[in-house]
Order: sequence, then C-alpha cells, then structure tokens
Amino acid sequence: MKKHILVVPGDGIGQEVTAVGKKVVEKIAEKFGHEFTYDEALIGHVAIEATGSPLPEETLVKMRASDAVLFGAVGHPKYDNDPTAKVRPEQGLLKMRKELGLYANLRPIKLFDELLGASSIKPEILKGSDILFFRELTGDIYFGEKGRKNDGDTAYDIAEYSRYEVERIARKAFDAAMTRGKKVMSVDKANVLETSRLWRETVQKVAKEYPEVTVEHQFVDSAAMLLIKNPRQFDVVVTANLFGDILTDEASQIAGSMGMLASASIGDSTGVYEPIHGSAHDITGKGLANPMASILSAALMLDISFGLKAESEAIISAVEQTLKAGFRTGDIADASTPKDMILGTDAIGEEILKRI
Ligand code: NAD
Ligand code: IPM
Ligand code: MN
Repeated sequence: MKKHILVVPGDGIGQEVTAVGKKVVEKIAEKFGHEFTYDEALIGHVAIEATGSPLPEETLVKMRASDAVLFGAVGHPKYDNDPTAKVRPEQGLLKMRKELGLYANLRPIKLFDELLGASSIKPEILKGSDILFFRELTGDIYFGEKGRKNDGDTAYDIAEYSRYEVERIARKAFDAAMTRGKKVMSVDKANVLETSRLWRETVQKVAKEYPEVTVEHQFVDSAAMLLIKNPRQFDVVVTANLFGDILTDEASQIAGSMGMLASASIGDSTGVYEPIHGSAHDITGKGLANPMASILSAALMLDISFGLKAESEAIISAVEQTLKAGFRTGDIADASTPKDMILGTDAIGEEILKRI
C-alpha cells in the first residue's frame, strides 16, 4: 500500500516520542511491504519561533495533502507561566482540529495486564478494564466566544453545542459500542448546563436508533468518581470536549500512565494520531519519556486511516511482548522493577522494534 504520512512532532517530548513512533511505522512498512513516504511540519512553540505562527499555513496545506498525520505535542513553559501571551502553542493544536474538522477524538483506555501493578488503583479493581472514550473535539467552551469586559476585570468563555454536533459524535460512539460491549455511557452536567441538556436530549434520541445498546447517563462529577471506583463497568463513553479532556487524563491512571494513552482525532478529512499527553516540560530533553503513547497512536493510524489491521496488531503485540519481557520506562516502573530494566525513550523503542 502507498501512503503519505505527515510527521508533526511539535514541542518538548513530542519531538522525542514521535521520532520513535515514526521508526515503528518505518519498520512496519519494511516488514509488510508498504510504500510509505514521509514529510515533516512545524506546530506549536517551534512553529512560533520559526514563523511567528503556532500553525503556519504551510503545515495546514501539508496536513490536508497527507493520508494521515502523526502528531506529538505542543506547549512550552514560557507561555504556561505567562497568561498574558497573545500567541500560544496550544492555539496551533486547536486551529488544526477545527480546520481539519476533527470532531471525534477516540481515546482507548487499554490496560496491559503486565501493568496492573503500575497503577495507584488496586489490581483487583483494574483487571479487565477496557474503555473507549469518544471526546467531542471541535465544540464546547474551547471554541465559543471568549474575551474580557469591565476593563479586563471580567473574563468569559462561552460553551456552545448544536444538535448536529452532538448527533454526529453520539452516532460514532453508538457505532463503536455495537462492535464492543454494546454499552454507552453519556457524560454531561445536565443538572446545571443548558448545553448538557441539549446533549442529553440528543443522545437519548440517537439511542433510539440503537435498541441493542444499553445507555446510561451520568453527571460528570459522578462519572469521575465511578472511573476510579469501578473502571470495569465502563465500555464506551461519549462526552463533551472539556469533560473528555479531564476524564481521560484521570483514566490514564487505569492504564498506568499518561505515557501509555494514544488517541485518534478523526472527522471530515485527514486523521491526526496523537498521544493524549503534552510536551511534559519536567522531563523534556532527558530521554526519559515513554514513547508507547506515540507508538500506539501509530497503531491507531494504520488501523483507522489505512485499514491495516494486522499491521496495527503487530505493533500492539510488540508493545505487549516488551512489557512481558519486563522492560519499563520510569513512569510505568514499580517497586518490583529491577533498575536495569528501566529504559529511556530510545532504548525501549529499540526493544519494541525488535519485536515487530
Ligand atoms: P503533560 O501531559 O505534558 O504532563 C503531565 C505529567 O505526565 C508530567 O509529569 C509528565 O512528565 C508526565 N508525562 C506525560 N507524558 C509522558 C510520557 N510520555 N512519559 C512519561 N511521563 C509523561 O501535561 P502538563 O504538564 O499539564 O502540560 C505540559 C504542557 O503540555 C503544557 O504547555 C500544556 O499546554 C501542553 N499539553 C499539550 C497537549 C497536546 O499537545 N496534546 C496535551 C496536554 C498538555
Ligand atoms: C489535549 C490537550 C489540549 C486539549 C490542550 C493542549 C489544548 O490537553 O490534547 O488533551 O485541551 O485538548
Ligand atoms: Mn488534555
């Protein structure tokens, strides 16, 4: 198969983990006889430094012309510590999602059995957890009108959803549930927010098209609690942009670490495959980052954008075999991990490559 992949590493550990993710894709191409071509483009802080814009037009043009994008992360401490900065790396990420119409962000919470001990949650509570989040990605408080008034002393961010936006993400979630455990939990705050009441009303309507699927509605505060109390009760979760952002960072602890969670952002055109973690300033440049979120994002890319199921599974299996062999990065090591089995970004990448 011939495909053109745009690699967009971005900032911080995005650079380090995406390099490994790309190597894994190259190995798959070699092993399975595919012709993948690659290009690179800038986003985030590195793009601001080079061009003044967090998402240069050239990057957007290249994204549209590619079959898929392998994305790293954006963010830099300079902006995190300066709330007055007008141009920010995260604007590049949000503009990319909007411009490419990436309204559905799939975040699988896949727990490898080998990592049962890496979580702060008890193994007997965790074992068998397998959740698929559908986070709406181009609406909500992220994209509504925002600003200041009263001479800058009052700030506002408006949350907005249309019926159409809720319907299309709900359908994606129900379609996925039909191929899994036939359970959907819709998470909202319908006891307070009008956008959530429209959300719930719309999900109830879409649910009628899927009589085989069991639907449950939970308020976000309760859902946050249930994720830790009994993660096994979850199958597919569908939720709004902001709730999905927060709940999936929480859910990363079911999988052991932020460094394990991949995602697929899909919609109207080119799909973007991105770890859920950020640029992780605290470990940038130290070679400590876990590249598995990027590697597993590459697996999602092969499966969802290219329909290469066996290739995708070969990657997941190589990650699993590496964990079975006892290798860990620092974020997923526990008290029982021997020091010499704790590897850096490139070294664990090599172990995974060997097993493809
Ligand atoms: P973060 O996800 O970067 O890091 C949170 C914690 O998890 C840190 O302690 C970090 O070291 C750890 N961590 C994350 N990924 C890891 C990995 N692969 N291996 C090992 N440890 C890992 O979140 P943050 O610290 O809140 O944000 C840092 C910057 O990243 C900010 O500028 C933020 O805006 C940005 N951010 C970007 C994205 C994105 O590009 N999609 C996502 C989240 C945050
Ligand atoms: C994510 C990130 C982004 C988000 C930020 C960096 C804009 O946290 O991809 O989860 O909130 O969507
Ligand atoms: Mn996030």
